[in-house]
Amino acid sequence: QRILLINGPNLNLLGTREPGHYGQQTLADIVANLTAKAQTLGVTLEHIQSNAEHELIEAIHHAQDRVDFVIINPAAFTHTSVAIRDALLGVALPFIEVHLSNVHAREPFRSHSYFSDKAVGVICGLGADGYEFALQAAVRRLNAGD
Ligand code: DQA
Repeated sequence: QRILLINGPNLNLLGTREPGHYGQQTLADIVANLTAKAQTLGVTLEHIQSNAEHELIEAIHHAQDRVDFVIINPAAFTHTSVAIRDALLGVALPFIEVHLSNVHAREPFRSHSYFSDKAVGVICGLGADGYEFALQAAVRRLNAGD
């Protein structure tokens, strides 16, 4: 089974970007750790990070019929992108939404997500651990045949 991890804009800066909100780990560290974890769980993890909305949309289109599950941190596009929402709905792939920070404890505009009502589940505020929990949940669902 194949899981696609998608990270949106500015997450390439993890490690140095607002560490109080996002922690000290780089995206490369997070992805390496998650890739190893995926291997032990018997699934393949693919990853894309982009700062460009259209690249994320195209990655989602390309995932159709090739990928079984999506884990996505849409970053700032969480609060703005009808287009990425529509892409996920368009390919009908199940997804879990992850945020490193607790978006509900920050500026009010971060509380609204264009994704949450369509997500299998949402994890926020647990830092990079949130990606691991999402991976575990995704694999469980795939093994259960949902
Ligand atoms: C984020 C939260 C968003 O509000 C923000 O724009 C991000 C990262 C998070 O992981 O906490 O870039 O998705």
